[in-house]
Amino acid sequence: MIKPHGSDQLRPLFVDDESRRQALLEEAETLPSLRLNSAAAANAVMLGAGYFNPLPGYMNLADALSVADDMATRDGLFWPVPILNLTDDIEAIGKAERIALRDPNVPGEPVLAIQTIDTVEKVSDSQLEHMAERIFGTTDSEHPGVATFMTLGHHAVSGPVEVLNFSYFEQDFPETFRTAGQIRDEFAERGWETVVAFQTRNPMHRAHEELCKMAKDAVGADGILVHMLLGKLKPGDIPADVRDAAIRKMVDLYFPPNSVMITGYGFDMLYAGPREALLHAVFRQNAGCTHFIVGRDHAGVGDYYGPFDAQKIFDEVPAGALGIDIFKADHTAFSKKLGRVVMMSDVPDHTMDDFVILSGTKVREKLGRGEHLPEEFSRPEVAEVLMGYYQSLDNKS
Ligand code: ADX
Repeated sequence: MIKPHGSDQLRPLFVDDESRRQALLEEAETLPSLRLNSAAAANAVMLGAGYFNPLPGYMNLADALSVADDMATRDGLFWPVPILNLTDDIEAIGKAERIALRDPNVPGEPVLAIQTIDTVEKVSDSQLEHMAERIFGTTDSEHPGVATFMTLGHHAVSGPVEVLNFSYFEQDFPETFRTAGQIRDEFAERGWETVVAFQTRNPMHRAHEELCKMAKDAVGADGILVHMLLGKLKPGDIPADVRDAAIRKMVDLYFPPNSVMITGYGFDMLYAGPREALLHAVFRQNAGCTHFIVGRDHAGVGDYYGPFDAQKIFDEVPAGALGIDIFKADHTAFSKKLGRVVMMSDVPDHTMDDFVILSGTKVREKLGRGEHLPEEFSRPEVAEVLMGYYQSLDNKS
């Protein structure tokens, strides 16, 4: 199986040994507590689940700046996005050597992890802005990722973490949330060596379905890992449970049996386009995937990124830094000329009118009104799940 990023073996930071985990939970009750922000909590979950292998914990400021500027930690590990525990609440930490990290996303704010403190460093507004510019390509406060990043806090708390649970993800998505190690184990059980990963934060329409099928055929994969984001999204995005149901329906009906694993990971969407695509590739490698699909406007929002910027950035990755291969997909849609879903570049002399394309807004409007989507765009069973969701929203408002 493909090696994880940066090490020979996957080293998840979740404490597997149950008696040690219980002992740490007891210790946590004696430690000062820091209430994390959602971004730092999501980082802890990803570290615990092995997705952020080989990082030992939260980065210090020098590493974060180095990652933001050069896409590598100071000791040369390729890494595209700073993994930080930013806070304003340094009184909570005081002079402590170890602190209990509390989960803001679960009622009662249980302990998510214990952190051993290396450094607590002041981060100035200009340093935050500089990092935002490098990560998101903009400092525009209208950008949802920038808006979140700029309010996380002005102190970086660095140091290793021991993760004690997976926040709300295991409980809310028992069929879907999986750690990188669990995915690797299941690949081994299934005998899958070559696996294409598909990142998504949306329900899957015909274009996404065909993209997965094209990628699997093109690389001769044993299977497809649909790997969906289960964490926080911007308002208006489709909640994970609805998306999960729609995707399961589609895979059930339209993919050969045992060709797809439907899974998810616990991270908040950054909307960082190209940089996020790189991070996505790193953690799919950690989950044992050999190929990763990057299509049109991957992890994008609004018009902050060019449609294929998230593919181009892979040209900047130093040779050998990533083990996973990228399947670069052109804009995919149903071609009226050819009568099937294709990559647009496969249709000679096309104009956009040759394709069945619906904007997200149009899809929402139609489904909210109880209108069906064209079958060239969406499988009817998928549209039905989404229609139920949009109509329930309308009934509430
Ligand atoms: S993302 O933010 O998670 O990237 P989304 O779930 O919409 O958003 O997309 C998942 C993947 O499918 C990304 O790689 C994206 O580039 C790709 N994709 C989505 N729609 C299309 C399309 N019509 N043509 C080509 N690629 C697409």
